[in-house]
Amino acid sequence: MAKVVITNRIPREGVELLEAEHDVTMWDHEECIPREECLRMIAGADAILTLLTEKVDDEFLEAAGEQLKVVANVAVGFNNIDVAACEKRGVVATNTPKVLTETTADTAFGLMLMVTRRFGEGERVIRSRTPWQWGMFYMLGMGLQGKTIGIVGAGQIGIAMARRAKAFGMDVVYTDAFEMDPAVATELGARRVEFDELLATADVVSLHCPLIPKGQEGSTHHLIDAAALAAMKKTAYVVNSARGPIIDEAALVEALENGEIAGAGLDVFENEPAVHEGLIGRDDVVLLPHLGSATVETRTAMAELAARNALAVLAGTAPETPVTSL
Ligand code: DGY
Repeated sequence: MAKVVITNRIPREGVELLEAEHDVTMWDHEECIPREECLRMIAGADAILTLLTEKVDDEFLEAAGEQLKVVANVAVGFNNIDVAACEKRGVVATNTPKVLTETTADTAFGLMLMVTRRFGEGERVIRSRTPWQWGMFYMLGMGLQGKTIGIVGAGQIGIAMARRAKAFGMDVVYTDAFEMDPAVATELGARRVEFDELLATADVVSLHCPLIPKGQEGSTHHLIDAAALAAMKKTAYVVNSARGPIIDEAALVEALENGEIAGAGLDVFENEPAVHEGLIGRDDVVLLPHLGSATVETRTAMAELAARNALAVLAGTAPETPVTSL
């Protein structure tokens, strides 16, 4: 039996898959595990299931020990994992793509609808008992039909978002290092453009790229900075369901303040769980507490996939969704 550590609560279905074969310990509390506790708990583990709140770096891998074979992240994003450090030690790292694609695209689409149609703002009017009356010009938003969505990162979630946008009558442009599958591009009527053109033409810029840290090739840290925001239409919105640091939050607050863009829908934040004070009081932003993949079905599927990945590596076979090239 191998020692498996789960650093935060995950759905039972995933835990049971692991328990059927191995000795499993889980941090079974609502709050995230404190770092010191985590480093103690993972000592001697053969497999570790992590959430995006755990930084898997040299210190973490050192604390786990040489016997560690796999870190299975219960998230599609793996910016919390130092992939090179894992590879150096021969530790396989995995993530959970595909199973959360539709749910996360739903979240992104919900943000887009909420911010462009001012639904959050409208709800706050009712809840705060602010007097209101139907009016021809009362709380008008921007319709999506005939507008252009700019998808930044045309991976699975980006494509799922584009599909929803297309169904709502939007035109699709995208940027990505790779061309979309031609059949998908045709289905969506999607046109690949340079980033500058996307910023200049999109009515909604929706972010679906991974967070690649500062200093690394192809870094997406602060991809949406003051210059990018200034290059957008004054009437445009930005939607982020990817990772917070892709947007320079201070620059976003300033751009909103100066009327450089019309609004933002954010599910993720630069210093999560903290949210820039300048965003809190604004009516032109929709703010969600990182709910991208938060459905019972999806979180269950994520836990099961992470468990299967860990089990595969422990059994000496290839995991379904590795992020290391081992
Ligand atoms: C992910 O899987 O990366 C999501 O952000 C978690 O909801």
